[in-house]
Amino acid sequence: MRDTLEKLRVSALGELGAAGSAAELESLRVRYLGKKGEITAILRQMGSLDAAERPAIGSLANSVRTDIENAVASRSGALDAASLADRLLRERVDVTAPGKLAAIGRRHPMSIVLDEAREIFISMGFTVAEGPEVELSLYDFDKLNIPPNHTVREWSDTFYITEDESVHLRCQTSPVQVRYMEAHRPPVRIISPGRVYRKDEADASHTPMFHQIEGLVVDRGITLGDLKGTLDALLRRLYGSDTKTRFRPHHFPFTEPSCEVDVRCATCGGAGCHVCKGEGWLELLGAGMVHPKVLAGVGIDPDEYSGFAFGVGVERMTMLRYGIDDARLLYENDLRFLRQFM
Ligand code: PHE
Repeated sequence: MRDTLEKLRVSALGELGAAGSAAELESLRVRYLGKKGEITAILRQMGSLDAAERPAIGSLANSVRTDIENAVASRSGALDAASLADRLLRERVDVTAPGKLAAIGRRHPMSIVLDEAREIFISMGFTVAEGPEVELSLYDFDKLNIPPNHTVREWSDTFYITEDESVHLRCQTSPVQVRYMEAHRPPVRIISPGRVYRKDEADASHTPMFHQIEGLVVDRGITLGDLKGTLDALLRRLYGSDTKTRFRPHHFPFTEPSCEVDVRCATCGGAGCHVCKGEGWLELLGAGMVHPKVLAGVGIDPDEYSGFAFGVGVERMTMLRYGIDDARLLYENDLRFLRQFM
């Protein structure tokens, strides 16, 4: 038995020292020290020994067990250290390596101008309303007092969705006025930015889809002076306090009286150039006092209430702001162009 124990010590220490992984080490530990392990098996046979021999064998067995336990602990420590060293090597990060620069986008020039205009209107007490781009002709034409024979109703001008001409891509943001007034009583003070569609050939000043901001104010005692003051304030804040504006009489079926608003051309300062086509002024807005028929059509008494409305082109606003001379540039997504705007 003494022999067996000594051999066991030698072979166990040899195998433990060579264990290559934590799992292997654990199975060796169980094999030698476990409840069904080899040491236990030997100690079970102690009963058959002479009483005189038992203490010496017992103490030998204990020393073998202690040696094996120590060997397990020291091999386990060595394996842990090796695996840590290995992980440190594998997961090493070179903190001095140059980083990858993420490309950061910028706002489109029209978004910049639109956001600014929206902020200006909100500071004047307007709220933002929206309406559908696929619109009923009822809202885009009929309820805006646009007569049945008006050229805007031609198939050559408007993108119809249905054969019977009852649904089309809206050609202005004005139907939002009607929808809003049908749902809200005065006082009304809204702007409505959005896309509009017209069958125009794309050129330097036209694109078949473009953006407008509609504005509408309805209350008791609203006058043309309020319209003029509001638009002048907008344009001075957008383009600077020395901005020159010009209100020209015009005609819209849904406003009476109506006007168009021009801003002094920023490219030539009014002398005339290719951007303003020699005019010295750029047309920016349509506006007017809401037609009594439009108010009555949505159940607002035109004898008690009056209002003004306007529609401003966002492309034009942007071109004027940055001196851009071709509307198509706004849609080509050429980074060399877009990178110029912050
Ligand atoms: N809807 C008109 C247009 O697109 C602009 C406008 C809006 C005019 C509101 C008057 C009042 O040309």
